[in-house]
Amino acid sequence: MHNNSMLDLPEEYKTLEETLHASFKVLEDAIENRHNLFHTPVLSTFSDSKINSRVIVLRAFDPESRTFRIHSDSRSRKIKDILQNADATLLGYDPGLKIQLKLHGSIETHHQDNIADLAWRDSQEMSKVCYSVSESPGKEIDDPGDYDVDPENIDLNEGYKNFAVIKFHFSSLEFLHLRSSGHRRSMHVWEMGELRSNWMVP
Ligand SMILES: Cc1cc2nc3c(=O)[nH]c(=O)nc-3n(C[C@H](O)[C@H](O)[C@H](O)COP(=O)(O)O)c2cc1C
Repeated sequence: MHNNSMLDLPEEYKTLEETLHASFKVLEDAIENRHNLFHTPVLSTFSDSKINSRVIVLRAFDPESRTFRIHSDSRSRKIKDILQNADATLLGYDPGLKIQLKLHGSIETHHQDNIADLAWRDSQEMSKVCYSVSESPGKEIDDPGDYDVDPENIDLNEGYKNFAVIKFHFSSLEFLHLRSSGHRRSMHVWEMGELRSNWMVP
């Protein structure tokens, strides 16, 4: 959890620009700062016609292209689903900041290409271990102990073939700040290179 002074955010939001500026500040901070709850937001995608949500870690953010990098197992349900429907949202709330952000956008996945390669080399050994599990995540099993990974006895590079990078690009950002004197909610939409922003009833 975070507080306003750590990020030098306004106590109250008077302009739409302030809400957008604060949102990007929070998202940039979230990459390295585990205490910022946007470090682990909820990613929702479609699984056929049903919504499927899960917590993920944001690994990198490029504010220019409004794109996040997320790591996952290429065998996981979400990767199969994303290949069918690229539509996705990222949602987070930090109670210290009293800010909720909802991003809507689309996803592309990378597996055994340059982007996956770079991200893999950038990953810590501890993170690489998870991708060496012999069976696909989500498979029904009898004994979870059978699937514990012993970092001493595995070839970490074997995990690379199960490693996928998710690039989430957002085209809208919804900001909500809770304040007893009056909540502030704004919407920012990027369409054909243009940004359109408006206030909303909270
Ligand atoms: C704090 C936390 C961080 C997580 N980070 C990731 C992540 O970065 N990538 C990932 O694929 N799963 C991550 N998970 C696990 C997912 O929430 C989810 O259980 C798993 O990816 C399977 O999802 P799926 O069946 O929808 O593919 C994380 C879970 C928690 C609780």
